[in-house]
Parts: sequence; C-alpha cells; structure tokens
Amino acid sequence: MSTASLTVQLAERSYPIHFSDSAAALRADVAKLRAAGRSVRVISDARVLNAHPSYLAQAGFNDGEILSLPHGEQTKSVERFSESLSFLASQAANRDCALFAFGGGVIGDLAGYVAASYLRGIDFYQIPTTLLSMVDSSVGGKTGINLPEGKNLVGAFWQPKAVYIDAALLQTLPPREFAAGMAEVIKYGMLADIDLFTQLEALDGLDASSEELPGVIRRCCEIKAQVVADDEKETAATGGRALLNLGHTFAHAIENVAGYGAYLHGEAVAIGLELATQLSVHLNQIPAEDIERVRRIIKQFQLPTRMEEALQVVDLMAAMQRDKKNRSGRLRFVTMSKIGQAITSDAIECELIEQIWHSAGAK
Ligand SMILES: NC(=O)c1ccc[n+]([C@@H]2O[C@H](COP(=O)([O-])OP(=O)(O)OC[C@H]3O[C@@H](n4cnc5c(N)ncnc54)[C@H](O)[C@@H]3O)[C@@H](O)[C@H]2O)c1
Repeated sequence: MSTASLTVQLAERSYPIHFSDSAAALRADVAKLRAAGRSVRVISDARVLNAHPSYLAQAGFNDGEILSLPHGEQTKSVERFSESLSFLASQAANRDCALFAFGGGVIGDLAGYVAASYLRGIDFYQIPTTLLSMVDSSVGGKTGINLPEGKNLVGAFWQPKAVYIDAALLQTLPPREFAAGMAEVIKYGMLADIDLFTQLEALDGLDASSEELPGVIRRCCEIKAQVVADDEKETAATGGRALLNLGHTFAHAIENVAGYGAYLHGEAVAIGLELATQLSVHLNQIPAEDIERVRRIIKQFQLPTRMEEALQVVDLMAAMQRDKKNRSGRLRFVTMSKIGQAITSDAIECELIEQIWHSAGAK
C-alpha cells in the first residue's frame, strides 16, 4: 500500500484511508465497482453539493444516483433515514449496491446507518467534506441517527470499505465549521500525542490552505485508526476507544442543555476539553499550569473555553447522568495523566463535577 494511504487494521474488515491520491482512488474504485456490474449510490446534502457541483461527476457518479438531503443535524432523523431507504428501494438497489456518503458527520452517520440496515447491510464508503468528519467521524464505523429524546440513540457499528480524504474540499468550509473541527484535532493531541499538541501550539492558526493541514489530518486519522483497531466496539474495561471521548461528557451535556444548534459540536468539545483538564488537575493527575496551556491553544484556534450563557448546574448534571457512555450508573470521565496521554477515571464524585461546572460559569 502506498504512503498516500493508511489502513485501519480490523482483520477481514480492514480498509484504507486515502489521502493525497484520494480523488484518483475514488474514481478508480467507482469504475471498478461498475466494471464488476455493481450499482453505486450517494447520499449528500444540498450545501455540499452546491459547494462542489462537479466533484461527484468527476468521480464517475451520475445525477440520478445521488440523493440530496437538507443540511444540518436535523437530517440525522428517523424521517430522513426512511427517505434514504426508500431512495434505494424505489430504484431496486440490490445487495451489490455500494453506498457512498459525501458530506460531513451528519451525512456520514446517516448514510452509514442506511448502509448497515438496507438489505441487512450493503457496502459503504466515506467521502468526508468537513474537518471534523475527516479527522473523526468518517473513520471507525460508528453510524447512527438521533431521536427526539436524544442524540445518536439509534445506530450500528458499520465499518466503511474505504475513506477518501481530500483536504481540498475544505476550501469551501465556513470558518466556524473549520474551527469546530480543530477542537477534535486538539483533542487528539491531548489524548495521545504531545508532539501533535506542541506542533499545534507553534502554529499561527491553521486553515484550509495551510501546508501543514494534510499532515495534521493524517496524524489524527493514524491515532483514531490505532484506537479503533485496539477496541473497535468500545468494550475495553478501561482506556480503549472511550479515550476518544475526552471532553465529550461535558460537551454532550452543554449541547443538550443549551439546545442542539446553540453550539456547534466542536465548540462544545472545546469547552469540554478545558473542563476535562480542570478535572484532571482536581484529581491530581496533571499540574495546575496545564489549564492555562489548554486554554491558550483552544483560543488560538478561535474556539470558546467558556459557556456563553449560564446554564443550570442541575440540568447539566442530569444530562450527564443520561449520557450513554456511563457504566452502571456511575459517572465516568476521560481525564489526562499528562497532556498527550488520556485515561478513564471512574466513580467521580458528583460534588466535584458540580464545582467544575460552577467554575465554568454555570449556576
Ligand atoms: N460517527 C462518529 O464517530 C462521529 C464522531 C464525531 C461526530 N459525529 C457526528 O458528526 C456530526 C457533525 O459533523 P460535522 O461537524 O461534519 O457537521 P455537518 O455534517 O452538519 O456539516 C457542517 C456544515 O457544513 C456544511 N458543509 C460540509 N462540508 C462542506 C464543504 N466542504 N463546504 C461547504 N460546506 C460544507 C454542511 O452542509 C453543514 O451545513 C454530528 O452529528 C456528530 O454526532 C460522529
């Protein structure tokens, strides 16, 4: 395999992530599928298709093979899931059909779950178009949709057959969305790679045209691929895939209480990273100076470190108790034993978490 790609090692379900040759690899794979007599379909959103009107045609897809859905988190719904299944069924797509997701995490999560469900599972491919989906959601096989009762409550593990990462697609991504993706990038540095963290600290910002960007995306994918290969379904008793949730228990509570859409996911993650750092300090796992270091890097990439409005601690605590990541009813957090090394910490006292929420401006 060329250095232009890396492999997610999952035995017979291993798959490549293509980087610098991704557009050519995509075109070649679509041609190969067709040559084998297989059909192809794409699920995307209207914003992505508007931003890149000829990308799919150049890859070898026809208009009639593309389902365009509205953009936004609302699209990860039972209704759009049903619409997507009907799109495949109405065109009599069979088991040989290969389904591609062309979009951010919303489209990737939805299309992946459609692929996992249709005819009990068809082949799935990811063409991520946001920074967040390139460094995080397109790799690892978590797919799903939301219910009115909560986010990601329905889904399946369904690994893609390949991921095509073309950083040039990010040229059209709004800056706020780019920044949100940077929260996950910073997260990887904090949880697994001090070198990545210090590389980011030394940068004067990062955008779609930065020459460092492809290397940074690739490093994040390497980390995610390794973690997923070691603990695909997040069943490790400690550590494992759960470490990818650094900052996320706080973030999910913020998103839930503020109302979905008030913060972009990455913005809530940025605040969550700061709070997870505070928690690590309270647990005597890292020195207090690290809080300032983490705050600095978050701000450096145009992300918030604090909530804009004072949410209620009681609501935030209740949201945390509902988080599906909890085990046996006890609060479980990902913290750091040092910057660049995350660990799971169980049975954390509620009072300590309440104190941390207060320090973040909650009331
Ligand atoms: N499966 C996983 O492991 C995993 C991990 C992290 C997050 N997620 C999920 O990912 C979702 C968030 O993903 P996201 O941040 O990519 O959001 P998104 O898919 O909603 O995309 C953000 C916005 O950017 C637009 N957009 C996308 N690509 C563009 C481009 N190249 N140019 C211009 N506009 C573009 C989209 O239309 C959308 O409006 C959440 O639902 C979250 O739960 C899943």
